[in-house]
Amino acid sequence: MEDDDRSKKPRVKSWAEPFKIKMVEPLKMTTRAEREVALRDAGYNTFLLRSEDVYIDLLTDSGTNAMSDRQWAGMMLGDEAYAGSRNFYHLEAAVQEIYGYRHLVPTHQGRGAEHILSKILISPGDIVPGNMYFTTTRLHQELAGGTFVDVIIDEAHDPKSEHPFKGNVDLVKLRRVIDEHGSQKIPYVCIATTVNMAGGQPISLANLREVRELCDAHGIRIIHDPTRVAENAYFIKEREPGCEQMSIAEIVRALCDLTDGCTMSAKKDALVNIGGFLALNDDDLFDKARNLVVVYEGLHTYGGMAGRDMEAVAIGLHESVEFEHIKARVGQVAYLGHKLQDIGVPVVLPIGGHGVFLDALAFLPHLDQDVYPAQALAAEIYLESGVRAMERGNVSSGRDPATGMNRRPKLELVRLTLPRRVYTQAHMDVTAESVAEVHDRRASVKGLRMVYEPPQLRFFQARFEPIG
Ligand SMILES: Cc1ncc(COP(=O)(O)O)c(C=O)c1O
Repeated sequence: MEDDDRSKKPRVKSWAEPFKIKMVEPLKMTTRAEREVALRDAGYNTFLLRSEDVYIDLLTDSGTNAMSDRQWAGMMLGDEAYAGSRNFYHLEAAVQEIYGYRHLVPTHQGRGAEHILSKILISPGDIVPGNMYFTTTRLHQELAGGTFVDVIIDEAHDPKSEHPFKGNVDLVKLRRVIDEHGSQKIPYVCIATTVNMAGGQPISLANLREVRELCDAHGIRIIHDPTRVAENAYFIKEREPGCEQMSIAEIVRALCDLTDGCTMSAKKDALVNIGGFLALNDDDLFDKARNLVVVYEGLHTYGGMAGRDMEAVAIGLHESVEFEHIKARVGQVAYLGHKLQDIGVPVVLPIGGHGVFLDALAFLPHLDQDVYPAQALAAEIYLESGVRAMERGNVSSGRDPATGMNRRPKLELVRLTLPRRVYTQAHMDVTAESVAEVHDRRASVKGLRMVYEPPQLRFFQARFEPIG
């Protein structure tokens, strides 16, 4: 009888890590008094904390991944020749096979690729539409004289909207930008998979196909930011009708095939600690990029990376499209997100691919955006437990170059970002409990005043003081 009852319950399908742990790195636990001193010394900016003062480090998923034994073995096969390293050719073959782009220009990390691409494609006065800005990408576009225009769907700016593809482009907005400025002024449309600043939200294949059609009709290139394309592919497999039977590798390839080239930060999906590249299909553009990479990064067969690092990226790219890996990666993020949701903490929905994003405006409704609620919340979470998160709101968004005012973006978020293959489910439980503690006493959290503001990418080095 009992057995019968049990058999009627829906089975919960658990995800589990498709690896076992071979080496561990001890973590330091701190007292609240020690964290108060560390936070004050860091100017209430989690970027300025020493990592040894952090217990669970959810600042970023960038370069913080644990490499596999295959990648470490690959590191020993580094060919550190100045020119023509065999690891470059391995990386080139991996990029051609997995992403399908013809030409590879290695760079030290993603922004190195963004710098070179912006220099070769953008002229002063140009317009670059994209599915939401990313900090370094937009800055390089602006430094080259361009202006970024956001053409993402409105739902992306609404933390509560459960649209399954909040990374989609609004075709009406894109058409309007093309009509207003003319295709001559648009060197490319910039497409991110997934969209970091929207909360790790995916774009659908169907939407990207429509963007391709529109761009083809006007002779406009599409440049892809595939930094987290495997996570995007997983969401497509889970959510997009007709894609259930496709492999992650097939979806990744289908996304890349709709674009003309990419700027890649290998420090995320590719499961390494450093690296990036620019990849292009066009022969002439490739030639220009190769000429410039020697000025800013290094020779065109290493571009700022050691041979061993290129080997680790090549192997990591293959691992990034393994289904069990990406299922566990996104599953762990969802585990933390749903735990926080159950506690009643306001989070961006649906839960994203690389992190859980707390809605700081809903969490701290008593704070105006110009006293930086997300910055204050990240600081408070650190004080509570030593968990390090990152602000993604008014500080990250910076000032409007035309008005000099804070941009006050619609999304004022704290990002709890999960490094790949690093933390356990118990770490997620502790993180959720720490956020819950802060949530219980949220009315007492005070805003911050910025007392030092760097001119560019201010979120990295700005310093703050508590108000009152
Ligand atoms: C979507 C996206 N593009 C580009 C970059 C820049 O890459 P990197 O940090 O390797 O310079 C990042 C880094 O966080 C990113 O998330």
